[in-house]
Amino acid sequence: MVENSQIQLVENLNLTTPALNRFAKPDDINRLVRQYGTPLYLVDENTLHKKVKELHDAFIKFNGHAKIAYSIKANFSPAILRAFISDGITFDLTSIGELHFMTQCKADPANIIYTSVTEEYEEYVEVLQSGVRRIVVSSFNGMTNLSRAAAGLGIKPLTLIRINPEVGVKAEIRASYKNGKFGVPFNGGTFDSAYQLVKYIMRNDLLKFEGFHFHLGSQILDFTCYLHAIDRIDAFITKMKKEYSNFQVNTLDIGGGTPVFYSEPIPKPTQMAANYISRLNDLVKTHGQFELMIESGRFLVAESSILVSKIVNTKEYNDHKIVIVDAGYHLLLDAALLKQEYPQEILTLSKNEHIISSTNQFKNTHLAGRLCDTYDVFPLSKASDLKDAGVGKYVSFYNVGAYSIVFNMPFHCQTKPPIVMKACNGDFKLVRKGGSYEQLFIEEGGDMS
Ligand SMILES: Cc1ncc(COP(=O)(O)O)c(C=O)c1O
Repeated sequence: MVENSQIQLVENLNLTTPALNRFAKPDDINRLVRQYGTPLYLVDENTLHKKVKELHDAFIKFNGHAKIAYSIKANFSPAILRAFISDGITFDLTSIGELHFMTQCKADPANIIYTSVTEEYEEYVEVLQSGVRRIVVSSFNGMTNLSRAAAGLGIKPLTLIRINPEVGVKAEIRASYKNGKFGVPFNGGTFDSAYQLVKYIMRNDLLKFEGFHFHLGSQILDFTCYLHAIDRIDAFITKMKKEYSNFQVNTLDIGGGTPVFYSEPIPKPTQMAANYISRLNDLVKTHGQFELMIESGRFLVAESSILVSKIVNTKEYNDHKIVIVDAGYHLLLDAALLKQEYPQEILTLSKNEHIISSTNQFKNTHLAGRLCDTYDVFPLSKASDLKDAGVGKYVSFYNVGAYSIVFNMPFHCQTKPPIVMKACNGDFKLVRKGGSYEQLFIEEGGDMS
């Protein structure tokens, strides 16, 4: 029954295939690859700000205060963090390393929400000492660690409970499933339930109950899962209010999942929000005002970034053409892990370049990376266009801003590419130097005898 209604909803949505974000002109790219080489990441600051506004605007009809929280796991480049800090948004962090990055970028701890998986006592001491006060707990053990850390420091953190609503999710990556790793169910036979966590918080005066958090998955294409999760939260709040007359939800964090275009048409954030905003407004009517937190990683950063790589080799067999670039899945891990179909396009940058193009026609063109690994062949998006690929030309991979740069790894002794950001005034600025073989050798212990 639920499955059928979900399929209908997706079909009824007016899906769109957005234009690729060609924010850098070929002349600019040509100049930059001459200066920094390839592979090279390009990031557009303007797109970052635009995405924040687009997501925020989608929730304009929410009868309360809605805030965007950037999940920095998607891309922790300091240049990107600083751009988002200037937007005044909140940040969703998961590790002490991420906290260090935010502190170095001078983020206001009031704009941080900390959601740990490990939930260790020492971790919480550090988080609280940094000034962060909004913390999402995901287990009974984690909550008691937070209580101990808070008591030791004489602080009463605002505590959210991460719920696993156990609703069906249609997404590329599902985070809510029965007996899953994240969060706690509403009820259950053990202490690891929202019911037990709320009881503990309400009875002991160590933590202040702030609200609920759930994260259903990434690249969600069917938004009925949000409706089901909100329904279940509504029923749970009603139940807890019967037990505690002062029970009040101040923050409801609905996690991430806003989709991005890779190959198939996608719904817009406004269509996503339209699916459940009236349900959220019902919640306000029934249970009082709360701040709505909309987390996002992928949507806020994916379209901001392009990876430019050079075609360095080709070969032809029968009706197959293999095009080899100097990038690989060490730079776009999701291409190998999740078969992510990043849109690709051929660029001819300089007439002076030594270009070897074949006039043969091929039914099948394969785009392969430089790694000596079977999985290093890039899936093609429906928006990919590899016509006229030839040695000496370049390939742009679009929408690579999320969950790619942060996965850069030194497989085959490969160094990290530089990152250049196009600032809002149109200037291109180096924001990460490329790695060097010397540096990599030392990082791997090459200088230790
Ligand atoms: C708790 C939490 N919130 C938000 C996100 C961001 O999800 P997305 O990138 O799909 O927006 C994630 C991603 O894993 C997450 O774990």
